[in-house]
Amino acid sequence: MDPIKTLDEAASAAPGVIDAVSSLDQLEQAEAHLLGKSSAVGRVRRSMGDLDPSQRPEVGAKLNEVTQLITSRLAGRRSELQRIDQERRLVEESIDVTLEAVTFPRGALHPLQQTMDEVVDIFVGLGYRVASGPEAELGWYNFDALNTPPTHPSRLESDTMYLDWGNPEDEVLLRTQTSPVQARWMETHDPPVYIVVPGRTYRTDTIDATHLPVFHQIEGLAVDNDIVFGDLKGTLLHFAQEFFGPRTTVRLRPSFFPFTEPSAELDVSCFSCDGGESGCRVCGGAGWLEMLGCGMVHPQVLEAAGYDASQLSGFAFGMGPERLTMVRHGIASMRHFIDNDVRFLGQFA
Ligand code: DAH
Repeated sequence: MDPIKTLDEAASAAPGVIDAVSSLDQLEQAEAHLLGKSSAVGRVRRSMGDLDPSQRPEVGAKLNEVTQLITSRLAGRRSELQRIDQERRLVEESIDVTLEAVTFPRGALHPLQQTMDEVVDIFVGLGYRVASGPEAELGWYNFDALNTPPTHPSRLESDTMYLDWGNPEDEVLLRTQTSPVQARWMETHDPPVYIVVPGRTYRTDTIDATHLPVFHQIEGLAVDNDIVFGDLKGTLLHFAQEFFGPRTTVRLRPSFFPFTEPSAELDVSCFSCDGGESGCRVCGGAGWLEMLGCGMVHPQVLEAAGYDASQLSGFAFGMGPERLTMVRHGIASMRHFIDNDVRFLGQFA
Protein backbone atom coordinates (compact mmCIF):
# COMPACT_ATOMS: atom_id res chain seq x y z
CA MET A 1 0.00 0.00 0.00
CA ASP A 2 1.30 3.44 -0.96
CA PRO A 3 0.12 5.60 1.96
CA ILE A 4 0.43 8.89 0.07
CA LYS A 5 -1.56 7.59 -2.81
CA THR A 6 -4.13 6.09 -0.50
CA LEU A 7 -4.53 9.41 1.31
CA ASP A 8 -4.78 11.36 -1.96
CA GLU A 9 -7.49 9.03 -3.18
CA ALA A 10 -9.34 9.28 0.14
CA ALA A 11 -9.11 13.08 -0.03
CA SER A 12 -10.50 13.27 -3.52
CA ALA A 13 -13.30 10.76 -2.88
CA ALA A 14 -14.47 12.31 0.40
CA PRO A 15 -16.29 15.46 -0.91
CA GLY A 16 -18.54 13.35 -3.16
CA VAL A 17 -19.41 11.00 -0.29
CA ILE A 18 -20.06 13.85 2.14
CA ASP A 19 -22.12 15.94 -0.26
CA ALA A 20 -24.30 12.94 -1.10
CA VAL A 21 -25.57 12.38 2.46
CA SER A 22 -28.97 13.84 3.15
CA SER A 23 -29.41 13.34 6.89
CA LEU A 24 -27.42 13.66 10.09
CA ASP A 25 -27.65 9.88 10.56
CA GLN A 26 -26.16 9.30 7.17
CA LEU A 27 -23.47 11.85 7.95
CA GLU A 28 -22.39 9.85 10.99
CA GLN A 29 -22.09 6.73 8.87
CA ALA A 30 -20.10 8.67 6.30
CA GLU A 31 -17.77 9.91 9.03
CA ALA A 32 -17.07 6.33 10.18
CA HIS A 33 -16.59 5.31 6.58
CA LEU A 34 -14.13 8.14 5.87
CA LEU A 35 -12.18 8.45 9.13
CA GLY A 36 -12.97 5.29 11.15
CA LYS A 37 -10.57 2.45 11.96
CA SER A 38 -11.26 0.48 8.82
CA SER A 39 -11.33 3.52 6.53
CA ALA A 40 -8.43 4.21 4.17
CA VAL A 41 -7.32 7.06 6.44
CA GLY A 42 -7.64 4.78 9.49
CA ARG A 43 -5.58 2.11 7.91
CA VAL A 44 -2.76 4.62 7.10
CA ARG A 45 -2.92 5.91 10.67
CA ARG A 46 -2.54 2.40 12.09
CA SER A 47 0.32 1.59 9.73
CA MET A 48 2.39 4.61 10.78
CA GLY A 49 4.43 2.49 13.21
CA ASP A 50 5.38 0.08 10.48
CA LEU A 51 6.66 2.78 8.19
CA ASP A 52 10.25 3.39 7.48
CA PRO A 53 11.23 6.30 9.78
CA SER A 54 12.31 8.35 6.77
CA GLN A 55 8.78 8.19 5.35
CA ARG A 56 7.01 9.09 8.60
CA PRO A 57 7.21 12.93 8.49
CA GLU A 58 5.81 13.13 4.99
CA VAL A 59 3.08 10.56 5.53
CA GLY A 60 2.28 12.02 8.95
CA ALA A 61 1.87 15.50 7.53
CA LYS A 62 -0.28 14.19 4.71
CA LEU A 63 -2.38 12.18 7.16
CA ASN A 64 -3.06 15.28 9.24
CA GLU A 65 -3.82 17.35 6.18
CA VAL A 66 -6.30 14.83 4.78
CA THR A 67 -7.90 14.14 8.16
CA GLN A 68 -8.38 17.86 8.67
CA LEU A 69 -9.79 18.34 5.21
CA ILE A 70 -12.33 15.57 5.67
CA THR A 71 -13.17 16.71 9.20
CA SER A 72 -13.86 20.26 8.16
CA ARG A 73 -15.87 19.12 5.14
CA LEU A 74 -17.92 16.91 7.50
CA ALA A 75 -18.43 19.83 9.88
CA GLY A 76 -19.60 22.04 7.02
CA ARG A 77 -22.08 19.48 5.87
CA ARG A 78 -23.25 18.90 9.44
CA SER A 79 -24.17 22.51 10.05
CA GLU A 80 -25.84 22.63 6.65
CA LEU A 81 -27.94 19.57 7.51
CA GLN A 82 -28.74 20.99 10.95
CA ARG A 83 -29.97 24.19 9.37
CA ILE A 84 -32.17 22.29 6.91
CA ASP A 85 -33.51 20.14 9.73
CA GLN A 86 -34.30 23.17 11.85
CA GLU A 87 -36.08 24.90 9.01
CA ARG A 88 -38.17 21.79 8.38
CA ARG A 89 -39.14 21.61 12.04
CA LEU A 90 -40.01 25.29 12.15
CA VAL A 91 -42.44 24.73 9.32
CA GLU A 92 -43.85 21.45 10.62
CA GLU A 93 -44.19 22.40 14.25
CA SER A 94 -45.24 26.01 13.91
CA ILE A 95 -48.54 27.23 15.34
CA ASP A 96 -50.52 29.43 13.02
CA VAL A 97 -51.25 32.31 15.32
CA THR A 98 -53.26 33.99 12.59
CA LEU A 99 -55.93 31.27 12.93
CA GLU A 100 -59.24 32.77 13.99
CA ALA A 101 -59.65 32.47 17.74
CA VAL A 102 -62.75 31.04 19.39
CA THR A 103 -64.84 34.11 20.09
CA PHE A 104 -67.64 34.57 22.56
CA PRO A 105 -70.10 36.96 20.97
CA ARG A 106 -71.66 39.44 23.33
CA GLY A 107 -75.21 38.51 24.23
CA ALA A 108 -78.15 40.81 24.80
CA LEU A 109 -81.35 40.89 26.76
CA HIS A 110 -84.42 39.45 25.05
CA PRO A 111 -86.53 42.23 23.50
CA LEU A 112 -89.40 41.35 25.86
CA GLN A 113 -87.11 41.68 28.86
CA GLN A 114 -85.89 45.03 27.54
CA THR A 115 -89.49 46.25 27.26
CA MET A 116 -90.36 45.04 30.75
CA ASP A 117 -87.25 46.65 32.23
CA GLU A 118 -88.07 49.91 30.52
CA VAL A 119 -91.71 49.95 31.65
CA VAL A 120 -90.72 49.05 35.19
CA ASP A 121 -88.11 51.83 35.17
CA ILE A 122 -90.73 54.40 34.16
CA PHE A 123 -92.93 53.46 37.12
CA VAL A 124 -90.02 53.15 39.53
CA GLY A 125 -89.27 56.73 38.51
CA LEU A 126 -92.75 57.63 39.80
CA GLY A 127 -92.04 55.95 43.14
CA TYR A 128 -93.63 52.57 42.44
CA ARG A 129 -92.17 49.40 43.96
CA VAL A 130 -91.69 46.17 42.03
CA ALA A 131 -93.71 43.22 43.29
CA SER A 132 -94.00 39.60 42.22
CA GLY A 133 -96.08 36.53 42.98
CA PRO A 134 -96.25 32.81 42.19
CA GLU A 135 -96.95 31.57 38.67
CA ALA A 136 -98.73 28.53 40.10
CA GLU A 137 -101.51 30.44 41.79
CA LEU A 138 -104.57 29.70 43.88
CA GLY A 139 -107.94 30.16 42.23
CA TRP A 140 -108.77 32.46 45.13
CA TYR A 141 -106.13 35.06 44.21
CA ASN A 142 -106.42 34.72 40.45
CA PHE A 143 -110.23 35.03 40.48
CA ASP A 144 -112.28 35.27 43.70
CA ALA A 145 -110.20 37.97 45.39
CA LEU A 146 -110.50 39.93 42.15
CA ASN A 147 -114.30 39.91 42.20
CA THR A 148 -114.41 37.17 39.56
CA PRO A 149 -117.10 34.64 40.62
CA PRO A 150 -116.94 30.87 39.98
CA THR A 151 -119.38 31.29 37.11
CA HIS A 152 -117.14 33.68 35.18
CA PRO A 153 -116.20 32.37 31.69
CA SER A 154 -112.48 33.06 32.19
CA ARG A 155 -112.48 30.25 34.79
CA LEU A 156 -113.40 27.62 32.19
CA GLU A 157 -110.99 24.74 31.56
CA SER A 158 -110.82 25.97 27.98
CA ASP A 159 -109.29 29.25 29.17
CA THR A 160 -107.22 28.34 32.20
CA MET A 161 -104.61 25.65 32.85
CA TYR A 162 -105.43 23.93 36.13
CA LEU A 163 -102.83 21.98 38.05
CA ASP A 164 -103.34 18.69 39.81
CA TRP A 165 -101.00 19.85 42.55
CA GLY A 166 -100.76 20.62 46.23
CA ASN A 167 -103.75 20.43 48.53
CA PRO A 168 -106.65 18.72 46.66
CA GLU A 169 -109.02 21.16 48.40
CA ASP A 170 -107.35 24.08 46.65
CA GLU A 171 -107.89 25.12 43.10
CA VAL A 172 -104.34 25.58 41.75
CA LEU A 173 -103.74 27.01 38.31
CA LEU A 174 -101.14 28.71 36.17
CA ARG A 175 -102.06 32.36 36.69
CA THR A 176 -103.91 33.83 33.73
CA GLN A 177 -102.91 37.37 34.69
CA THR A 178 -100.57 39.24 37.01
CA SER A 179 -103.61 40.77 38.77
CA PRO A 180 -103.55 38.23 41.66
CA VAL A 181 -100.43 40.00 42.93
CA GLN A 182 -102.71 42.99 43.64
CA ALA A 183 -104.57 40.89 46.20
CA ARG A 184 -101.44 39.24 47.59
CA TRP A 185 -99.67 42.56 48.06
CA MET A 186 -102.61 44.30 49.77
CA GLU A 187 -103.08 41.33 52.07
CA THR A 188 -99.53 41.71 53.39
CA HIS A 189 -98.91 45.47 53.10
CA ASP A 190 -100.62 48.51 54.53
CA PRO A 191 -101.66 51.34 52.22
CA PRO A 192 -100.56 53.41 50.43
CA VAL A 193 -99.77 51.01 47.60
CA TYR A 194 -97.84 51.89 44.47
CA ILE A 195 -96.61 48.72 42.76
CA VAL A 196 -95.77 47.35 39.32
CA VAL A 197 -95.73 43.62 38.72
CA PRO A 198 -93.89 42.28 35.68
CA GLY A 199 -94.36 38.55 35.22
CA ARG A 200 -95.21 35.47 33.22
CA THR A 201 -98.81 34.42 32.61
CA TYR A 202 -100.53 31.42 31.03
CA ARG A 203 -103.63 30.62 29.04
CA THR A 204 -104.79 27.66 26.94
CA ASP A 205 -104.24 29.56 23.71
CA THR A 206 -102.90 28.01 20.55
CA ILE A 207 -99.82 29.72 19.21
CA ASP A 208 -100.52 32.17 16.42
CA ALA A 209 -99.37 35.64 15.40
CA THR A 210 -101.08 37.31 18.37
CA HIS A 211 -101.30 34.53 21.00
CA LEU A 212 -98.85 32.54 23.05
CA PRO A 213 -99.90 30.11 25.80
CA VAL A 214 -97.03 31.50 27.89
CA PHE A 215 -96.86 35.28 27.73
CA HIS A 216 -96.22 38.27 29.98
CA GLN A 217 -98.05 41.06 31.70
CA ILE A 218 -97.12 44.11 33.67
CA GLU A 219 -99.66 44.96 36.34
CA GLY A 220 -99.92 48.28 38.07
CA LEU A 221 -101.76 49.13 41.28
CA ALA A 222 -102.09 52.39 43.16
CA VAL A 223 -104.19 52.61 46.34
CA ASP A 224 -104.22 55.70 48.52
CA ASN A 225 -106.56 58.12 50.25
CA ASP A 226 -107.78 60.37 47.46
CA ILE A 227 -107.08 58.63 44.21
CA VAL A 228 -109.39 59.63 41.38
CA PHE A 229 -109.83 58.68 37.75
CA GLY A 230 -107.73 61.68 36.68
CA ASP A 231 -104.75 60.17 38.52
CA LEU A 232 -105.14 57.04 36.41
CA LYS A 233 -105.24 58.99 33.19
CA GLY A 234 -102.37 61.27 34.14
CA THR A 235 -100.19 58.37 35.20
CA LEU A 236 -100.85 56.44 32.00
CA LEU A 237 -100.27 59.55 29.87
CA HIS A 238 -96.90 59.97 31.53
CA PHE A 239 -96.10 56.32 30.87
CA ALA A 240 -97.18 56.56 27.22
CA GLN A 241 -95.09 59.67 26.61
CA GLU A 242 -92.04 58.13 28.22
CA PHE A 243 -92.40 54.90 26.28
CA PHE A 244 -93.63 56.11 22.88
CA GLY A 245 -92.37 59.69 22.83
CA PRO A 246 -93.36 63.12 24.20
CA ARG A 247 -95.91 63.89 21.44
CA THR A 248 -98.05 60.89 22.42
CA THR A 249 -101.62 61.48 23.54
CA VAL A 250 -104.00 58.96 25.11
CA ARG A 251 -107.71 58.24 25.12
CA LEU A 252 -109.82 55.99 27.32
CA ARG A 253 -112.70 53.88 26.04
CA PRO A 254 -115.26 52.27 28.38
CA SER A 255 -114.66 48.57 28.96
CA PHE A 256 -115.29 45.88 31.54
CA PHE A 257 -113.10 44.00 33.99
CA PRO A 258 -114.54 42.33 37.10
CA PHE A 259 -111.93 43.90 39.37
CA THR A 260 -112.30 47.54 38.24
CA GLU A 261 -115.27 49.92 38.18
CA PRO A 262 -115.36 51.87 36.00
CA SER A 263 -113.09 50.00 33.58
CA ALA A 264 -111.43 51.31 30.46
CA GLU A 265 -109.14 50.47 27.58
CA LEU A 266 -106.29 52.87 26.98
CA ASP A 267 -105.39 53.80 23.42
CA VAL A 268 -102.25 55.76 22.57
CA SER A 269 -101.94 58.00 19.53
CA CYS A 270 -99.98 56.31 16.76
CA PHE A 271 -96.32 57.24 17.17
CA SER A 272 -95.70 56.61 13.49
CA CYS A 273 -98.34 58.83 11.82
CA ASP A 274 -99.09 60.97 14.91
CA GLY A 275 -102.71 59.96 14.91
CA GLY A 276 -104.28 59.81 11.52
CA GLU A 277 -102.77 58.98 8.18
CA SER A 278 -104.78 56.64 6.02
CA GLY A 279 -102.95 53.38 5.46
CA CYS A 280 -100.32 53.95 8.17
CA ARG A 281 -98.21 50.81 8.56
CA VAL A 282 -98.44 50.88 12.35
CA CYS A 283 -102.05 51.78 13.15
CA GLY A 284 -103.66 50.90 9.82
CA GLY A 285 -105.04 54.43 9.57
CA ALA A 286 -106.97 54.34 12.85
CA GLY A 287 -104.59 56.85 14.39
CA TRP A 288 -104.81 54.99 17.71
CA LEU A 289 -103.17 51.88 19.13
CA GLU A 290 -104.93 49.74 21.72
CA MET A 291 -102.53 49.46 24.60
CA LEU A 292 -103.88 48.17 27.90
CA GLY A 293 -106.79 47.58 30.26
CA CYS A 294 -107.33 49.69 33.36
CA GLY A 295 -109.84 51.12 35.78
CA MET A 296 -110.63 52.18 39.32
CA VAL A 297 -110.11 49.32 41.77
CA HIS A 298 -113.48 47.73 42.59
CA PRO A 299 -114.44 48.25 46.25
CA GLN A 300 -114.93 44.52 46.64
CA VAL A 301 -111.29 43.91 45.67
CA LEU A 302 -110.16 46.35 48.39
CA GLU A 303 -112.49 44.70 50.92
CA ALA A 304 -111.39 41.16 49.98
CA ALA A 305 -107.82 42.19 50.77
CA GLY A 306 -108.87 43.64 54.13
CA TYR A 307 -108.72 47.32 53.10
CA ASP A 308 -111.41 49.81 54.07
CA ALA A 309 -113.06 50.74 50.78
CA SER A 310 -114.87 53.66 52.41
CA GLN A 311 -111.51 55.33 53.17
CA LEU A 312 -109.35 54.21 50.26
CA SER A 313 -109.54 54.24 46.50
CA GLY A 314 -107.19 53.24 43.75
CA PHE A 315 -106.57 52.48 40.14
CA ALA A 316 -105.08 49.48 38.39
CA PHE A 317 -103.86 48.62 34.93
CA GLY A 318 -102.50 45.64 33.06
CA MET A 319 -100.48 45.65 29.86
CA GLY A 320 -98.80 43.10 27.60
CA PRO A 321 -95.08 43.51 26.95
CA GLU A 322 -95.46 41.35 23.83
CA ARG A 323 -97.92 43.83 22.34
CA LEU A 324 -95.88 46.86 23.40
CA THR A 325 -92.78 45.38 21.80
CA MET A 326 -94.58 44.38 18.59
CA VAL A 327 -96.13 47.80 18.14
CA ARG A 328 -92.95 49.67 18.86
CA HIS A 329 -90.71 47.61 16.57
CA GLY A 330 -93.25 46.65 13.90
CA ILE A 331 -92.97 42.93 14.68
CA ALA A 332 -95.60 40.98 12.76
CA SER A 333 -95.85 37.80 14.83
CA MET A 334 -95.49 36.85 18.49
CA ARG A 335 -93.85 33.65 17.30
CA HIS A 336 -90.60 35.52 16.82
CA PHE A 337 -90.34 35.97 20.58
CA ILE A 338 -90.09 32.23 21.18
CA ASP A 339 -88.30 31.01 18.05
CA ASN A 340 -84.88 31.78 19.57
CA ASP A 341 -83.55 32.81 16.19
CA VAL A 342 -80.46 34.98 16.72
CA ARG A 343 -81.09 36.71 13.40
CA PHE A 344 -84.21 38.15 15.05
CA LEU A 345 -82.90 38.54 18.59
CA GLY A 346 -79.58 40.07 17.44
CA GLN A 347 -81.44 43.10 16.06
CA PHE A 348 -82.26 44.19 19.61
CA ALA A 349 -78.70 43.99 20.94
N1 DAH B 1 -105.79 41.27 34.02
C1 DAH B 1 -106.36 41.82 32.83
C2 DAH B 1 -106.21 40.85 31.68
O1 DAH B 1 -105.49 39.91 31.79
C3 DAH B 1 -105.66 43.12 32.46
C4 DAH B 1 -106.07 44.21 33.39
C5 DAH B 1 -107.12 45.03 33.08
C6 DAH B 1 -105.40 44.40 34.57
C7 DAH B 1 -107.54 46.02 33.92
C8 DAH B 1 -105.80 45.41 35.43
C9 DAH B 1 -106.87 46.22 35.08
O2 DAH B 1 -105.18 45.64 36.57
O3 DAH B 1 -107.26 47.19 35.93
O4 DAH B 1 -106.85 41.01 30.67
